[in-house]
Amino acid sequence: MLGSSMLTVKNKMHTKTPENSKTTTTDLVLPSDTNSINNLFGGELLARMDRVASIAAGKHAEQIVVTASINHVAFSRPVPLGSVLTLEAKVSRAFTTSLEVFIEVWNESRDNKIKTKVNEAIFTFVAVDKNGNPVKVPQLLPETEIEKQRFDAALRRRQLSLVLAGKLQAKDATELKALFD
Ligand SMILES: CC(C)(COP(=O)(O)OP(=O)(O)OC[C@H]1O[C@@H](n2cnc3c(N)ncnc32)[C@H](O)[C@@H]1OP(=O)(O)O)[C@@H](O)C(=O)NCCC(=O)NCCS
Repeated sequence: MLGSSMLTVKNKMHTKTPENSKTTTTDLVLPSDTNSINNLFGGELLARMDRVASIAAGKHAEQIVVTASINHVAFSRPVPLGSVLTLEAKVSRAFTTSLEVFIEVWNESRDNKIKTKVNEAIFTFVAVDKNGNPVKVPQLLPETEIEKQRFDAALRRRQLSLVLAGKLQAKDATELKALFD
C-alpha cells in the first residue's frame, strides 16, 4: 500500500503546467490559403489552430486527443497573403477527460519584424483510448497571473459549451449564472 508521502509524489507527477504543453508553429500564408480579397481564409486558420492546439493537448494528456468543441474564436484582423504567421497553443485547464487549450496567432511584419496579435481561439479536446472512449488526463497547475485567470474562466466556458451542446441544463450552470447575479 502507498504511504501518504508516496501518494503526494505520485499526484505531483500527474500535475502539469501550461508551459509543459506550449506548442508553437510558424508558417507562410500562400495563395491557396486565401479568400477572394487575398486575405487568409477563415477555415484555413481554424485548421492551423486545430493542429497546433491538438499537439498541445496531446503533450498534456500523453494520449490520443480529439476536438470536442470550439469555445471561442475571434478573427479580429485580416491576415494578408505572404504573411508569416506564428501560432502558440497552451493548455489552460484540465477537467476529468477534457482539456481546454488557448491559441494565440501573431503576424510578423517582414519590414520591421514586429509581431502583431491578429487572432485568438479556445478549443476543447477530449483524451480517448484507441476505441474512442474518454480517458482521464493529468491536472493542470497554472503559474502566471494570466494562466490563473484563464484557468478560472475555463469553468464558465465549459458550462456554456455544455449548455449549448444540450449536455448541461442551464439551471445547473452555476459558475456561468454567477456572472449575471
Ligand atoms: C468528444 C467525445 C469523445 C465526447 O464523448 P462523449 O461520449 O460525449 O463523452 P462524455 O459526454 O462522457 O464527455 C466526455 C468529456 O467531454 C466533455 N465534452 C463533451 N462535449 C463537450 C462540449 N460540447 N464542450 C465541452 N466539453 C465537452 C465532457 O464535459 C466530458 O469532460 P470531463 O470528462 O472532463 O468532464 C465524442 O463526442 C467524440 O468522439 N466526438 C467526435 C470528436 C471528433 O471526431 N473530433 C474531430 C472533429 S470531426
